[in-house]
Amino acid sequence: MAKKKIGLLFGGRSGEHEVSLASAQAIAHNFDADAFEVVPVLISREGRWYGPIEIEKIAVATPEQYADREVLLAPQPGGRLLRAADGSELCRLDVIFPIVHGTYGEDGILQGLLELAGVPYVGAGVAGSAIGMDKVLMRKILAYHHIPQVTFTTVLRTQVEQDISVAVNEIAAVLPYPVFVKPANGGSSVGISKARDDAELAEALRLAACYDRKILVEQGVNAREIEISVLGNEQPAVSLPGEICSSNEFYDYKAKYIDNKSISVIPADLPEDVVASIQQLAVEAYQALDCEGFARVDFFVERESGQIYLNEINTLPGFTEISMYPKMWEAAGLPVTQLLNRLVELACQRFADRAKNSVQC
Ligand SMILES: Nc1ncnc2c1ncn2[C@@H]1O[C@H](COP(=O)(O)OP(=O)(O)O)[C@@H](O)[C@H]1O
Ligand SMILES: [Mg+2]
Repeated sequence: MAKKKIGLLFGGRSGEHEVSLASAQAIAHNFDADAFEVVPVLISREGRWYGPIEIEKIAVATPEQYADREVLLAPQPGGRLLRAADGSELCRLDVIFPIVHGTYGEDGILQGLLELAGVPYVGAGVAGSAIGMDKVLMRKILAYHHIPQVTFTTVLRTQVEQDISVAVNEIAAVLPYPVFVKPANGGSSVGISKARDDAELAEALRLAACYDRKILVEQGVNAREIEISVLGNEQPAVSLPGEICSSNEFYDYKAKYIDNKSISVIPADLPEDVVASIQQLAVEAYQALDCEGFARVDFFVERESGQIYLNEINTLPGFTEISMYPKMWEAAGLPVTQLLNRLVELACQRFADRAKNSVQC
């Protein structure tokens, strides 16, 4: 049987470009080489596409080195990768694995192009990706489904620009300090701050407003951070939870990627009933947000009360050698090569299912 060609898109225009290189390298190395041919395509920070990139060069590839290999994905059905220089066909891709974290990759924008290109792709579709990325929309849908989450309020950049003291007073009237301030669309803790008083809140709002026009403000909780892996389409499977013990006061960018001191514990040391609740809530949220393929769902378990809150869902979770998503599956008895097989299978199933939809009136 001919090998399936997997277009592995990586890099991208978000602040998580580097993480994507590490994720793509781990994925390319772990695909079953007898069944799949991986075609790595680098998306530069400017949004230009280059490929194919040699697998061993994924982590160090730069657009300059591949200037003569600029490519395009044809936005017509067929999954065709074209040479940018003359529009000729380079190859047909059977499945695309877009491991592009953050804005323009994880938020439905890239998924829209993949829909136009008419090729099966791994992960959530346009709506699931967009809602998973937008923390405000996500909170509203979770609220509709009665999934427990911290109390929150929202504010627009225009309100911050018009009169920040009014915005501060309105927030302080509904949420006691400390609060967490977040740009609605973001990741890797970029633009997120903890505010303990009015002055810090004003500063946090100004920072978040640099990243998005919509800002989420949440009740801060003193909690353990628990994550769990979900895999599947309509009836997803769920792993055992893991715990992140942050090296900083909260799990900020430095704790995530720079100081290397945060510890992960898999499986998390939690009572059985708490594990069962987290598993159930993760699946409910996954279905409520219309996720497909895979996602990592992150929770808080409040230290004092034991109350569980859903923090967020990541529709393109980190997939590096040390990332929680593949490690939690590995601990559950699903090695990464089989996990990748399954993700391709799920992408193809979703594609076949979508083809059943009539487009006639
Ligand atoms: N409401 C909250 N209470 C306590 N800590 C929080 C709260 N919200 C976020 N944090 C801390 O900030 C980190 C990043 O927030 P998160 O919403 O997960 O953003 P990102 O999408 O960037 O990962 C969390 O992992 C946690 O350490
Ligand atoms: Mg997070």
